[in-house]
Amino acid sequence: MCGIVGYIGKREAWPILIKGLERLEYRGYDSAGVAIMNSGAISVYKKLGKVSELSKFVKNKSDKNISGLVGIAHTRWATHGEPSDKNAHPHLSMSGDIAVVHNGIIENYLSLKKVLIEKGFKFKSDTDTEVISNLIEDIKKSAKVSFDEAVRLALLEVVGAYAIVVLSKDDPNTIVVAKKGSPVVIGIGKEEFFIASDATPIIEYTDKVIYLDDNEMAIIKNGKLLVKTIENEVKNPYIQKLEMKIEELEKGGFPHFMLKEIYEQPRSIKDSMRGRISAKDGMIKLGGIECHQDKLINAKRIIILACGTSWHAGLEAKYFFEEIAKTPTIVEYASEFRYRNPVIYPDDLVIVISQSGETADTLAALKLAKEKGATVFGVCNVVGSSIPRATDAGVYTHAGPEIGVASTKAFTAQLTVLFLMCIFLADKKEVLSKKEIKKLLIELENIPEKVEKALLCNDSVKKIAEKLKNMKNFIYLGRGYGFPLALEGALKIKEISYIHADGYPAGEMKHGPIALVDENMPVVFIANHSALYEKVVSNMMEVKARKGVVVAIITKGDTNIKKIADYCIEIPETTDVMMPFVASVPLQLLAYHVARLRGCDIDKPRNLAKSVTVE
Ligand code: M6R
Repeated sequence: MCGIVGYIGKREAWPILIKGLERLEYRGYDSAGVAIMNSGAISVYKKLGKVSELSKFVKNKSDKNISGLVGIAHTRWATHGEPSDKNAHPHLSMSGDIAVVHNGIIENYLSLKKVLIEKGFKFKSDTDTEVISNLIEDIKKSAKVSFDEAVRLALLEVVGAYAIVVLSKDDPNTIVVAKKGSPVVIGIGKEEFFIASDATPIIEYTDKVIYLDDNEMAIIKNGKLLVKTIENEVKNPYIQKLEMKIEELEKGGFPHFMLKEIYEQPRSIKDSMRGRISAKDGMIKLGGIECHQDKLINAKRIIILACGTSWHAGLEAKYFFEEIAKTPTIVEYASEFRYRNPVIYPDDLVIVISQSGETADTLAALKLAKEKGATVFGVCNVVGSSIPRATDAGVYTHAGPEIGVASTKAFTAQLTVLFLMCIFLADKKEVLSKKEIKKLLIELENIPEKVEKALLCNDSVKKIAEKLKNMKNFIYLGRGYGFPLALEGALKIKEISYIHADGYPAGEMKHGPIALVDENMPVVFIANHSALYEKVVSNMMEVKARKGVVVAIITKGDTNIKKIADYCIEIPETTDVMMPFVASVPLQLLAYHVARLRGCDIDKPRNLAKSVTVE
């Protein structure tokens, strides 16, 4: 987690850094800070809380000196040391000569700190990061080496994960950047450079970027950039062109990114299938996995690894792959998989799913799977992020940047890509006829329009949210394709409204959760027309018999459930397998409206961050 930003060039750095931090706040918002190089000194401003708190604090300061053409900045998700002013980045070395912003964790910081304390260094914070600035200062002075060489030598001593940007008072026209395990991008402008944890703070200035690889560092000095490894091997960096558009990063008139992203789903689902299907010919083309497609086609088993909402998309995919493509599939939490000793056979295929492409547990699980000889495919949203770079092949979701911490459009885009993979596999394995494939693809092409129609439930969901906003708990129930959705619905309301919620397979209810049901327990049923409809209705009756408050997501025109449920939300009719695309919408909207009515910080819920880059 944490977002880092840097600027060196001919413009005032402060506004660029602050805007950059605002774009990266989804990565953490426990504190924010900036270091600016001015008149041969480094001025540091930092504050507990969001970037807006830092801006307010600096605005009211009479003795501020925020003018300067070089600077670094940070927005924090606390790991070592509680959120506070003193633990906010940037961290200065003891003399104030070196300033560092850091995303990651220095695992051997305690032993390094001990040695530095023995040498007389004093520490002001509880963070692991302060060790880096003091270590660089120590090496620079004792080994009498240049600033960038001191950074390099310091990094040889550091164990852990980092993306860092460093300033030195003695080298006012230099910025040093380095990466291992945490992402960092360098934007190349005209005689200026922009550094950030991802491309979102950079896109409005330049579309030319370099993604540093692990163990690489960049020295930006007097308008020139040099990339080398921390073992001192000079590299020829690959300059990529960014495809992202600046409008995608704005709220576009919506009060929250989450709501904007919910409403973007017809477009993001369409984009995720665009150019990949020809429904009338029953054809699918997935360029990103072509070179390894035999691994998928011949897989005896698929293992899906992911966390959070991406794990829920993986669970839906298990139902797709087994029911449609007849390939056994298991879905594992990446955080568990990485610490087990999992069995992987040569004819297994591993698929990792991640919106951010940076989730530490998913990346570690991917690496473990590769060490065990697996071929790994990725389904990721952020182009150029660490996970797609580490996989053998993959298919990007084209959801566009997802800023709201609660994942919405990324989920339905993941479903789209996983569904395409599944139909591709069913076609190659010839377990479906061409006619059946065409039928499924034609319905998939109809999904964006059906999602558009599902969005019309917004007003009725708002009214239901009004009635339920003060409830202390929620249960979500579904069967078949509805079960992963029940988990996802519960996660959404939990993370943004802070109401305790649990998702269960509806058939499991009588094995325990039904004991919780009384007149204060809302139970949300995914109750569309499906093969299991009657069973779900029976479960609903069981809840009603115990005075539970039933909220039912039903197929449009279902008059039967309307007689049973307290509240109904209608969604357009579709096949069982494509129901999750459409039924996601009311679940997302319910969480959104409950959270809004409770006055919660929807886009930046407490304790969370968008990219979980620590384990
Ligand atoms: O970027 P990833 O898809 O790998 O992230 C995984 C989870 O951290 C993420 O889905 C998280 O659960 C979201 N906050 C859910 O809304």
